[in-house]
Amino acid sequence: MATTLTEKQIEGFHRDGFTVVPDFVDRDTCVGLRERAVGLVDEWEPGDERTVFTTDEQERHSNREFLSSGGRIWCFFEDGALDEAGELTRPKELAINKIGHAQHDLDPVFEAFSYTDDLAGVAADIGLADALALQSMYIFKQPGIGGEVACHQDSTFLYTDPLSVTGFWFALEDATIENGCLWAAPGGHTAPLRQLFKRVGDDSDGTVFEQLDSTPLPTPPEDLVPLEVPAGTLVVLDGRLPHWSDVNRSDRSRHAYTLHCISAAAEYPDWNWLQRPKDLPLRRLDRSDR
Ligand code: FE2
Repeated sequence: MATTLTEKQIEGFHRDGFTVVPDFVDRDTCVGLRERAVGLVDEWEPGDERTVFTTDEQERHSNREFLSSGGRIWCFFEDGALDEAGELTRPKELAINKIGHAQHDLDPVFEAFSYTDDLAGVAADIGLADALALQSMYIFKQPGIGGEVACHQDSTFLYTDPLSVTGFWFALEDATIENGCLWAAPGGHTAPLRQLFKRVGDDSDGTVFEQLDSTPLPTPPEDLVPLEVPAGTLVVLDGRLPHWSDVNRSDRSRHAYTLHCISAAAEYPDWNWLQRPKDLPLRRLDRSDR
């Protein structure tokens, strides 16, 4: 097993709730992932599911697309990318917010990138030697349209008992304050989990938030620190760490890939919004189950 993190990085992760690993991904790999993501968008056809006519219909469709995306590759539009008739207001490749949520298992390029000894080594270094790869996202953070991501804790959206979700966030382009880098609250992972995000039925139904703790989340940006990092940097995030990203105010994109892992020993309740089809079981990051 590759040991990837330094003692300082491991200490920093436990103290701050995150750690920054420069040069984890080489430049050619960043370019290859960006090209593959653009290819996935190109190949993707929203089909009938984009044919939406009213706001209510749109919400219902987006619920179904979202709630069934745990076991497939789906492209999600930015708010404002579709007009009232459901037609794109800009070229498709500039209208996508993200691709999710199973490309780490369904696309060979993202699979090869996600399941590596180096990443399994990082997970083991921070105490997640039995990591299962649960969910992946390719985030475009488009210029001009890329919205804010409100301050949140990832364990709200991917819950296990005991808590184990860990985010691996890879900068595939330079992330700066101007183009909407991550911001995090150092030490914020020691405070309680505030909310749970639960599905209330099948894929065509909805979701609700359940309040667990009334402590306010940190207020962006003053309670957070910016993580301005060059392309190729890995940021590892504790699932309880409050983090946020601002609108992209620059004229260039800020692509990132994220992989969220959980402990194989933790229970993953079936009210989590993300559910995988039975024929697509979760797999170990270290490939010890193959
Ligand atoms: Fe997050």
